[in-house]
Amino acid sequence: MSEPKKLFIKTYGCQMNVYDSERMAEAMGAEGYAQTDRPEEADLVLLNTCHIREKAAEKVYSDLGRLRPMKAAKPGMKIGVTGCVAQAEGEEILRRSKVVDLVVGPQSYHRLPAMLARVAGGERAIDTEFPPEDKFDHLPARKAQLGPTAFLTVQEGCDKFCAFCVVPYTRGAEVSRPSARLLDEARGLVARGVREITLLGQNVNAWSADGMGLAGLIRGLARIDGLERIRYTTSHPNDMEDDLIAAHGDEPKLMPYLHLPVQSGSDRILKAMNRKHTAAQYLDLIARVRAARPDILLSSDFIVGFPGETEADFQATLDLIRAVGFGQAYSFRYSARPGTPAAEKPGVDPAVADARLQALQALLAAQQRAAQAAMLGREVGVLYEKPGRLPGQMVGKSDHLQAVHVFDPTGKPGDLVRVRITGTETNSLAADRMNA
Ligand code: SAH
Ligand code: SF4
Ligand code: F3S
Repeated sequence: MSEPKKLFIKTYGCQMNVYDSERMAEAMGAEGYAQTDRPEEADLVLLNTCHIREKAAEKVYSDLGRLRPMKAAKPGMKIGVTGCVAQAEGEEILRRSKVVDLVVGPQSYHRLPAMLARVAGGERAIDTEFPPEDKFDHLPARKAQLGPTAFLTVQEGCDKFCAFCVVPYTRGAEVSRPSARLLDEARGLVARGVREITLLGQNVNAWSADGMGLAGLIRGLARIDGLERIRYTTSHPNDMEDDLIAAHGDEPKLMPYLHLPVQSGSDRILKAMNRKHTAAQYLDLIARVRAARPDILLSSDFIVGFPGETEADFQATLDLIRAVGFGQAYSFRYSARPGTPAAEKPGVDPAVADARLQALQALLAAQQRAAQAAMLGREVGVLYEKPGRLPGQMVGKSDHLQAVHVFDPTGKPGDLVRVRITGTETNSLAADRMNA
């Protein structure tokens, strides 16, 4: 038998790209490729890219520059660019980087093997269509052994057109996968050892199919024996339906964590961003979520320095953060993206935007420390994911998605245990296992 060919994949950006990379690796596995973590020995290098901010997109070209000598040293190495930069820039990538053999957008991954056959014949191949068929129906089944947690993409694309965002252009319109397929895939994941599934979508709570919304899908998944935990991300405030909020109160497998990006606390900026809700509406929504599940840990994304943002707008964002109390958050300086409406407007002074970002991050970090400290002495569930660095230690996530270290010499990945929190740091918790 000949040596298997080697595949190196680098993933940038969001969890949907992580999921896509796994599915592409499986598709290429069926073509005889084994994965490697050393690009220099790969026969095929795939960069699964992100276009969300300028820095992420430009990183791809510096990585391509680093691949150039590796490709020169290894005749036959092929290089492909996939993901959102591929979709957004298409042909431009082939023009800018001579080492690229293949460009394929996020909705066409099932066509990869056929494209590679053309590349082997000496062509440079490109496919950035939005084909009518579902790529996931044409990708091979999931591989045999999986860890205790897995992603499952249920929805792709976005119809919201926030004024700053490229996703509606790179991922196309909102499409929901049918519930029967998703329940099948989830059962398959559970049969391979998965105990926690995170449902993914650019607007996951816009999922709707077979007369159901996301709450219906979650309740269906919760009936699968052996599936112990369900999460979902990323949701939009305007798609947070009452039945989904209710599920947080009465569906025990739905974990008490919600990432609900608000971006800004200023109504003027929210309007300019085309978010289609006010700060007060967001606060009301948070109150309803907390009424259903008082101990829920809340997370959000924030953009500072959006065009036109004044000091008063920024203070309104800090006020909103103080009013909510987030357990976790991501924050970014606004990055003007080609083709988006906001990119036409004059930006905020970069030094001002940087200072605001620092002030915002200091407040969010203090809230995160407070949320961690509030866990002290509490009893929570932890799903072990892997051994820790210390002997006898296991690492996993709490119900609230916080990293937890537990001394448990008999523990193994996949164990779902009850622990009491004994120590807290900004990014992790220490805990003792409770007696069964
Ligand atoms: N669909 C999700 C997230 C999409 S991108 C949602 O609507 O929440 C993830 C985050 O990147 C966004 O929430 C936003 O905070 C940030 N982001 C998107 N475009 C950006 C831009 N042009 N500049 C800076 N941050 C941006
Ligand atoms: Fe982008 Fe807005 Fe859609 Fe989120 S909801 S993906 S931020 S356009
Ligand atoms: Fe980036 Fe595309 Fe995800 S732009 S954030 S990889 S949807």
